[in-house]
Amino acid sequence: MKIQAPKGTKDVLPEESYIWQYVEDKFRQICKLYGYEEVRFPTFEYTELFHRGVGETTDIVQKEMYTFLDKGGRSITLRPEGTASVARLFIEHGFASRSMPQRLYYIISAFRYENTQGGRYREFHQFGIENFGSKSPVTDAEIISLSYNFFASLGLDSIVVNINSIGCPVCRKDYVAKLKEYFQNHIDSLCQTCRQRLDKNPMRILDCKEDSCRLIAKEAPKPIEYLCDECKTHFEALKGYLDAAGVCYKVDLYIVRGLDYYTKTVFEIVDVVADKKLAICGGGRYDNLIEQIGGGSIPGIGFAIGVERLIMLLSQKGLIPQKPQVPQVFIATLGDLAVKKAFEIARDLRSAGISTVIEELSRSLKAQMRYADKMGCEFSVIIGEDEVSKGICKLKNMKTSAEEYVEINKLSEHIKSKI
Ligand code: HAM
Repeated sequence: MKIQAPKGTKDVLPEESYIWQYVEDKFRQICKLYGYEEVRFPTFEYTELFHRGVGETTDIVQKEMYTFLDKGGRSITLRPEGTASVARLFIEHGFASRSMPQRLYYIISAFRYENTQGGRYREFHQFGIENFGSKSPVTDAEIISLSYNFFASLGLDSIVVNINSIGCPVCRKDYVAKLKEYFQNHIDSLCQTCRQRLDKNPMRILDCKEDSCRLIAKEAPKPIEYLCDECKTHFEALKGYLDAAGVCYKVDLYIVRGLDYYTKTVFEIVDVVADKKLAICGGGRYDNLIEQIGGGSIPGIGFAIGVERLIMLLSQKGLIPQKPQVPQVFIATLGDLAVKKAFEIARDLRSAGISTVIEELSRSLKAQMRYADKMGCEFSVIIGEDEVSKGICKLKNMKTSAEEYVEINKLSEHIKSKI
């Protein structure tokens, strides 16, 4: 068998890795501007965390997790998302005693055994934000504003922010009863998994990906029709704050999100790629998650952005910046004395911030120049033993082919003035 990368994974080559660095830098910048600090956490966790955090009846837990027993017989799962892990981290490191709210961000890979169509990968990457300790809709608006302005900083002006409220355990009681009744009347059209969900968690039927279930779900009662006064007030206040923050949004009553921990605000940010809606960001409030996994009563809210989808979108919209030229300078050498001098010159150029490579293969000068040209270097520095003894080098502009002699000790200054 020819060994290839597993289905649903992706290698990132130098032609693309600079784009990943570009979006990561932009994300880190916006996080800093909003007062968020980075956390890093393990790629795998004990499986129990996701069962209790993400929810037993979700698609993620039922169908999509990479779970295995380690050599010590413990059940381990590759993280399918970041929120449960950050909540675990919050509890484990006693963050409840720090000043609130806590503003945390992360850049992670995540793993879900999914169909690999429509921008879905089995290993994918997320930029995520979690805010702990605030129940206020001010926080919901800040979070949504952060993601909105992140996309704006990348030039994405066609994104749509869709918000909804799915209520709290208080209003959910009535809602879930109505939902059960509705789906019970359509049980014959539901898929096998959803029939099992009907009793335990009928809300999960609303985000089932099977066509027959989606059709029925469209006509189902909506959470917003059953909100209690507190949830209603919270949602109204959020809308006012979003207006104040300058965020354009739409209310989309169909958003319920596929994870069990959400309460009140949920949102998704979508754009259109090849005539298809693509969710590039999803998030919401989770006021009971910390408690569910063994911590105190601490509210939270966050979101995650799909990095592969974001890059796909930027590329479709022509918003990818030009690749920076690496390396900028090639040092061609003739003879061992020149090779030794090349180390010294390279050190000077690099400390001046100029990306420099030296000939490593002892090729002919013609071959070296061909290589420098192929690499797209802006300049070549050519040195032989004669030049070394005179303290000079030949500098060639690779675009114009113009050549000049420059004193070696003035070279970095000279090149800097031309780049
Ligand atoms: P999620 O909606 O499951 O939410 O994922 C967030 C984003 O990750 C999606 O909008 C999508 O862009 C991307 N994504 C999800 N699955 C895949 C996949 N298989 N392939 C490529 N991209 C994918 C969460 O993960 C929550 N933890 C978000 C959150 C944070 N809620 C509160 N805090």
